[in-house]
Amino acid sequence: MAVLKPMDVLDALKEVRDPAADRDIVGLGYVRDLEIRADRVRFVLHASGSEAERTALADAARAAVTALPGAPSVEITLEGEVAARPGADTGVLGGVKNVVAIASGKGGVGKSTVSANVALALARDGARVGLLDADMYGPSMPTMFAVDAPLRATPDNRIIPLQAHGIHLMSIGFMAGEGLPVIWRGPMVSNMIVQMISQVAWPELDYLVIDLPPGTGDTQLTLCQQAPLSGAAIVTTPQEISLIDAHRGLEMFRKLNIPVLGVIENMSGLHVGGEVIPVFGEGGGERIAKELELPFLGKVPLDPAVCTAADQGEPIVQRDPESPASKAFVAIARSLAAQCAQVNAEAAGGDDGAMSLEW
Ligand SMILES: Nc1ncnc2c1ncn2[C@@H]1O[C@H](COP(=O)(O)OP(=O)(O)OP(=O)(O)O)[C@@H](O)[C@H]1O
Ligand SMILES: [Mg+2]
Repeated sequence: MAVLKPMDVLDALKEVRDPAADRDIVGLGYVRDLEIRADRVRFVLHASGSEAERTALADAARAAVTALPGAPSVEITLEGEVAARPGADTGVLGGVKNVVAIASGKGGVGKSTVSANVALALARDGARVGLLDADMYGPSMPTMFAVDAPLRATPDNRIIPLQAHGIHLMSIGFMAGEGLPVIWRGPMVSNMIVQMISQVAWPELDYLVIDLPPGTGDTQLTLCQQAPLSGAAIVTTPQEISLIDAHRGLEMFRKLNIPVLGVIENMSGLHVGGEVIPVFGEGGGERIAKELELPFLGKVPLDPAVCTAADQGEPIVQRDPESPASKAFVAIARSLAAQCAQVNAEAAGGDDGAMSLEW
């Protein structure tokens, strides 16, 4: 009987796709600790999604490997536990497994919309999620989540985040009042950011999503230096001018040694009567990701319902989870979660999980 090679198994598993993320399970980093002994194949499947979705993926993976020559027996350990960044249990943001910044070089490309909907999509998949609105000048979360309850503090004087739609929220808008002009000097911004990460009583979280203001200013620098970021995702529209600014944002994270988890393209085409109108151009996000050898995390269509839902305090993933835009956010959230897992595995042991082979 032919000897089964790890590459044969991985090639077979690459044929299995996570429909929500529209990528194969090896590329998503779901396959870990592959072991082959004689005609027995064993691996861990670390998949996102609901119990039913993960079980379906495990069934498809088992069928793909069993179909190999010699029909090997397959043992799959199905894991859904979110992997933590190294050092997640101590220090600043101790108890938060992954800290993910959503950034862009240019304003108005949809960072806040993406942050809110990706946070909700992660929570729908069963993760414990926090969302920090780090935009000191134009906080969005009070409107997007329709919350303005008074803040309370713990006995040791730390601020308790508010909750809406199952996630934990903190925004300067909860303190300063929505609609008030917020005037800050540079050092005050940095101070406030430090307080928002160290003086807030965040509960234990799988993901803290941080919605950044546009550009590469004080907030971004302070966060990169003070918060234990797992990585940053860059939002861009498909148009050239936005891409140039996206480059600038990417450069900043690279210089500060923050892993870039990937590129998200927003406002990538308006669907009208079966036709797609490329309002802001086409394919720019994918192009920039390819150029810079970064993962492309997905694209979100331009859809007036996305805007209306956010304005009415119920982001689209919450209001209409079956809409095309919501499905796009779910896919992006899963790709982002997979990239976090990959970065964590690399930081922990220099391996990328999918390729760790034992004989
Ligand atoms: N995919 C989309 N379809 C329709 N409208 C969208 C979409 N994404 C964002 N918007 C709308 O575009 C506007 C800008 O989005 P958003 O506030 O999320 O951008 P931003 O990058 O956070 O902006 P800023 O740089 O000011 O923080 C908002 O009115 C939002 O509702
Ligand atoms: Mg914003």
